[in-house]
Amino acid sequence: MADRLLLILFLVSYLFVSGVTSRNITIENKCNYTIWPGILSGGLGPPTGGFALKKGEARVINVPSGWSGRFWGRSLCSTNSTGGFSCATGDCGSGKVECTGGGTPPVTLAEFTIDSNGGQDFYDVSLVDGYNLPMVVVPQGDETCSTVGCVNDLNPTCPDELRVRGNTSLMTLATPIIACTSPCEAFNSSEYCCTGAYSTPQTCVPTDYSRVFKRACPRAYSYAYDDSNSTFTCASQPNYVITFCPSSALNTTK
Ligand SMILES: *[C@@H]1O[C@H](CO)[C@@H](O)[C@H](O)[C@H]1NC(C)=O
Ligand SMILES: *[C@@H]1O[C@H](CO)[C@@H](O)[C@H](O)[C@H]1NC(C)=O
Ligand SMILES: *[C@@H]1O[C@H](CO)[C@@H](O)[C@H](O)[C@H]1NC(C)=O
Ligand SMILES: *[C@@H]1O[C@H](CO)[C@@H](O)[C@H](O)[C@H]1NC(C)=O
Ligand SMILES: *[C@@H]1O[C@H](CO)[C@@H](O)[C@H](O)[C@H]1NC(C)=O
Ligand SMILES: *[C@@H]1O[C@H](CO)[C@@H](O)[C@H](O)[C@H]1NC(C)=O
Repeated sequence: MADRLLLILFLVSYLFVSGVTSRNITIENKCNYTIWPGILSGGLGPPTGGFALKKGEARVINVPSGWSGRFWGRSLCSTNSTGGFSCATGDCGSGKVECTGGGTPPVTLAEFTIDSNGGQDFYDVSLVDGYNLPMVVVPQGDETCSTVGCVNDLNPTCPDELRVRGNTSLMTLATPIIACTSPCEAFNSSEYCCTGAYSTPQTCVPTDYSRVFKRACPRAYSYAYDDSNSTFTCASQPNYVITFCPSSALNTTK
């Protein structure tokens, strides 16, 4: 009896302290075209997957307490003559709209850890794997929690050597830039990848490339050790809205 009471007390305090509630993450597409968001869970089970989101549409994803994972957008997707589905950016390699793995770089990522550490969320937008679509993450209902991500389209300012252009059978200077590769991926050097002699926050410092990324996306990870200004926490257990191609400027005062 006493054991049972203890157990109940434990469960009640656990629910109270860690706030075992699910959270809603709304994904909205303000781009001028269809995108195909992808979701990859970091371990704790669903949600993982992907779907089409037409211009102007939104979808609510429910994530359990303790969940960690990432969201990204795929663009320029199509189904080929044998029914295989693939995307020019962010493709997850499944051959289907549904994803079972992560997006192929270059891809802009929104990363979350929900209710870690006694109810604190960690979230960021990362350009460490490059950039494909502008996206912001907006915590709902708590002014003290920061909006993060990229409002500006980075593709037009992407350095030549990092540009990924669309449909290569039409290769001309007018072929649109559809993504921007990370310098680590492009050059595989320890300086850009923060490996070897550059594997500490002291030695891995901003580069000309990371500065281009930072300029377009002041509130996103521009290289692997960009932690101090790029990972955000929120303790009020908010819901989040992820907006692709946001139109409004980021409020950088919070
Ligand atoms: C999540 O959204 C559903 C409806 O889509 C709503 O019923 C539910 O209360 C929401 N949960 C939270 C934690 O806001
Ligand atoms: C979006 O589409 C509309 C109508 O097709 C077009 O007028 C507008 O220029 C487009 N905007 C962008 C940013 O591509
Ligand atoms: C169609 O797409 C699938 C999945 O991407 C791929 O495996 C297959 O080779 C493609 N088929 C053709 C005819 O291009
Ligand atoms: C690339 O452009 C060519 C010529 O317009 C077209 O036939 C082909 O389907 C396009 N490929 C893709 C992947 O969009
Ligand atoms: C990147 O460089 C490392 C060490 O120089 C090497 O081991 C690795 O195979 C390279 N990766 C690619 C994809 O070229
Ligand atoms: C972080 O932001 C501060 C103030 O905006 C700036 O002075 C500093 O250089 C930034 N640090 C990094 C690593 O970007």
